[in-house]
Amino acid sequence: EKGGYDHFMLKEIFEQPRSIADSMRGRINLDSASLQLGGLRDYLDKIAKTDRIVIVACGTSWHAGLVGEYLFEELARVNVEVEYASEFRYRNPIIKEGDIVIAISQSGETADTMAALELAKSKGAIILGVCNVVGSSIARITHAGVYTHAGPEIGVASTKAFTAQVTVLSLIAIATAHKKGTISQDLYRELLFGLDAIPAKVEKILKSAEKIKDISKLFTFASNFIFLGRGLNFPVALEGALKLKEISYIHAEGYPAAEMKHGPIALIDEDMPVVFIATKDASYEKIVSNIQEVKARKGRVIAIVTEGDTLIPKMVDFVVEVPRTNDLLLPLLTSIPLQLISYYIAVLRGRNVDQPRNLAKSVTVE
Ligand code: F6R
Repeated sequence: EKGGYDHFMLKEIFEQPRSIADSMRGRINLDSASLQLGGLRDYLDKIAKTDRIVIVACGTSWHAGLVGEYLFEELARVNVEVEYASEFRYRNPIIKEGDIVIAISQSGETADTMAALELAKSKGAIILGVCNVVGSSIARITHAGVYTHAGPEIGVASTKAFTAQVTVLSLIAIATAHKKGTISQDLYRELLFGLDAIPAKVEKILKSAEKIKDISKLFTFASNFIFLGRGLNFPVALEGALKLKEISYIHAEGYPAAEMKHGPIALIDEDMPVVFIATKDASYEKIVSNIQEVKARKGRVIAIVTEGDTLIPKMVDFVVEVPRTNDLLLPLLTSIPLQLISYYIAVLRGRNVDQPRNLAKSVTVE
């Protein structure tokens, strides 16, 4: 049932070319350069007219929500707030009739997310779901939604569900932007073609698994890790840190790279591994100087870089390359090497990666 893989988590990491493609299938049509989201047919108008979207989720799904925030704001020019579902409901949140609330949940059974939706619904919000499990509680109480088609996720640490969530949020943001006229036809086409090309690019990254395993060997006994990224790669940094904590039990933190100088830089010494997500995007120059700051303090750096980058490989200890894509689609690529780093470190430490201690696949208690 693990399809020849040692663990479900590894199988699910390797399934991502297909699970991402499945989450787009029947939705993107390249011949006509068009995008259809059947599940939102009656709601896209309302999403396009709203001036505020609230996203509620927990854990990895909350990280996907943060990626969604960048996408909606950049493409559809709409104000987005991403809330931990548990905090949202205990705070007398300001929700008015007709506000759009989107829940993101792999299992569709997370109690905190469910309770946040019930509260939003009682205040008259339109509640939408991005769920993986068909017919789950969240899928049933929402007015409408778009399923991720990642297939069953067995490993407790979420991997393919995350990239499927990011794929679906990209589709919703692009469809909203197209409807509102906030993106050009050229960018619309570029993003649809860009998404279509993602599965093959993920496949290419997965070919670096052996290299990533070799790098991971050198960090097996680290007791801390810092993950840094900017822009859309900031939520990827948070997700990289969460994954490592969950399955290897190594203390890890994710930060926006520019925040480092406001405190965490005090942690940097020769024993501190730092993972930079340092692709050639709008923040490239800035992240190069953040890397210099860490290297000047002897931090050990693993950088996720764009294929063909010649500068960063000279500055850091190890690099893993990802193919080029539109900046807005980068999380679909940059999250993959981080999943593999966590996986290999956890295996090398002898952890039970599919069933980490203290964690359950769906958290149905508040
Ligand atoms: C992370 C993880 C958890 C879940 C969180 C939300 O690997 O598995 O953080 O992401 O409990 O679960 P869902 O998405 O099912 O609502």
